[in-house]
Amino acid sequence: MDGREKSLLRFVTTGSVDDGKSTLIGRLLYETKSIFEDQFAAVETTSKKRGQQDVDLSLLLDGLSAEREQGITIDVAYRYFESPYRKFIIADTPGHEQYTRNTVTGASTAELAIILIDARKGVLTQSRRHGILLSLLQIPHLVVAVNKMDLVEYDEHVFRDIVEVYQEFSGKLDIHDISFIPVSALKGDNVTTKSEAMPWYEGSTLLHALETVHVAADRNLLDFRFPVQHVIRPHLDFRGYAGRIASGTIREREEIVVLPSGKTSKIFSIETYDGSLDEAFAPQSVVLTLDDELDISRGDMIVRKHNLPQVGNELEAILCWMDEGAMRADGQYLLKHTTQTVKAFVRNVSYRIDVNTLHREAVETLRLNDIARVEIHTASPLFFDSYRNNHSTGSFILIDPHTSNTVAGGMIRGAVRTVADLIVSSEGGTSALRKTSSNVVWSGWNIPRQQREKKNGHRAAVLWLTGLSGSGKSTLAQAVEMRLFEQGCQTMLLDGDTIRHGLCGDLGFSERDRSENIRRVGETAKLFFEAGHIVLCAFISPFAEDRSFVRSLIPADQFFEIYTKCRLEVCKQRDPKGLYKKAEAGEIENFTGISSPYEVPQHPEITAATDEQPPERLVERILGALREGRIFS
Ligand code: ADX
Repeated sequence: MDGREKSLLRFVTTGSVDDGKSTLIGRLLYETKSIFEDQFAAVETTSKKRGQQDVDLSLLLDGLSAEREQGITIDVAYRYFESPYRKFIIADTPGHEQYTRNTVTGASTAELAIILIDARKGVLTQSRRHGILLSLLQIPHLVVAVNKMDLVEYDEHVFRDIVEVYQEFSGKLDIHDISFIPVSALKGDNVTTKSEAMPWYEGSTLLHALETVHVAADRNLLDFRFPVQHVIRPHLDFRGYAGRIASGTIREREEIVVLPSGKTSKIFSIETYDGSLDEAFAPQSVVLTLDDELDISRGDMIVRKHNLPQVGNELEAILCWMDEGAMRADGQYLLKHTTQTVKAFVRNVSYRIDVNTLHREAVETLRLNDIARVEIHTASPLFFDSYRNNHSTGSFILIDPHTSNTVAGGMIRGAVRTVADLIVSSEGGTSALRKTSSNVVWSGWNIPRQQREKKNGHRAAVLWLTGLSGSGKSTLAQAVEMRLFEQGCQTMLLDGDTIRHGLCGDLGFSERDRSENIRRVGETAKLFFEAGHIVLCAFISPFAEDRSFVRSLIPADQFFEIYTKCRLEVCKQRDPKGLYKKAEAGEIENFTGISSPYEVPQHPEITAATDEQPPERLVERILGALREGRIFS
């Protein structure tokens, strides 16, 4: 090697019982010379005694893991090995292999996962379940190792069939990189050396794949999140906050906010065992000291002033149920998120994912290995990000308060409230969160939305049309609403031009007023939504942050952002109200596209290019998306 530090790859292995996970790991350790001679000798003797022809490398792991097998709730053991090119950490999860717990707990920090499939058995439900989990966990790279090829005479067709079946399935998942390797962990084919028994396979060996996969830079270096673990106060002159940086970086003198108090200060110093640092980054453990003496305790979170997480006590999440017992009827659990543990209540199971068909099923409760979308209410607010943006502040576990067992792992999709509610004022160095008066108690809706939806015969939804003035938002919204109405759906159309005559009649077109306009409209849409309606909203809504606020109010699968994409020149030509002409003549201020910006949506559910396709086609597409999303049939 050229003396540069070797890169590190973290990976997990998943498989069903007897797929040969231990043997495969054993073989990797053995062939990269990561075990001691005497360990190998012992395994060799035991194998011989048992009359086994080949050295049973899985014994290696059994010996190593025996001590960890009792009383484990959630625990991951890490195994290290290295090749001349790279260092590896395998997150190995003891316990029963058929449980998804192994995958969920080990995989959230992994960059790659190996799914083991027994060549004789083919693609099992379990292999699909692992695929779904790994895609939900957003593991960037998957390797499907088709094992025990020796037992199917190294037959190419067996391998190809499995590849075909799995590809058809994985194509529907959010997986970007997947490769397939035929191996025999027992005999060593294609693990570290190319198999002579499978000349038809031209790809790389497993070790080569592990050595060469591109490992992206650390996942989230942008959003600084520091959950406080301990307050350190050795003497009166020192007060520090200890913890591990969950994501992002921080420097001395940066402005920070403490949640939930909303108090602001600056980083005075960053301390570690080895002295002070100018800058620290995840996953370092540090002690932060601040310019001001603030009241901070365990479970609080320190973040950068202009980069806040979401805050709220209503979450939407994907839950992976890992307990033998079904979900309790009262839905009451403890939820552990970063350094906070709070009481939580699983309020609603929106649906369970059928792992074979990927269809959504209505269920009353959750059982072992179920993967489901749920709504959770927590007794006090959490500071979090979506799992997509931040694996550490976007995940949690549920604990049964009676048995102390970990019963589920969760990935947060979104919240009901967002940053927009968390306004930090800069006056006087301190700040306040904008929140409802403490005398207002949320008491829930009288008739749950689900009951209304049942009665209506369709689900509620919000269709948010955003785009330049003249891009066709209202035209499309009106046509779609008419069609839905004719089908007997409960609908409501909210449009900039009408709402600005009443509810928002006091607002103009400054950034601030537009934000407030969208906030009010979002809240109004939410009310109609809770009343079971399909709500169409046609607003320029030029700012991404405002749109993402509205999105956060509505369950993800019932919200459709529709970007009416249209070139500015075409909008100007259309100019239905003559406003572009006035704006260009300087008669209207802050006109979107002329003297005020429009931030193009990055991930709209639907892009409707109104300057390229006729409205009828676009209407059909929107209705099609609603049908596909099972809003109505
Ligand atoms: S938003 O930016 O706050 O979302 P909204 O959709 O409610 O705007 O209102 C846009 C409508 O207001 C336009 O269709 C147009 O008729 C009218 N309007 C008046 N002044 C402006 C302006 N400065 N910029 C954009 N639209 C304006």
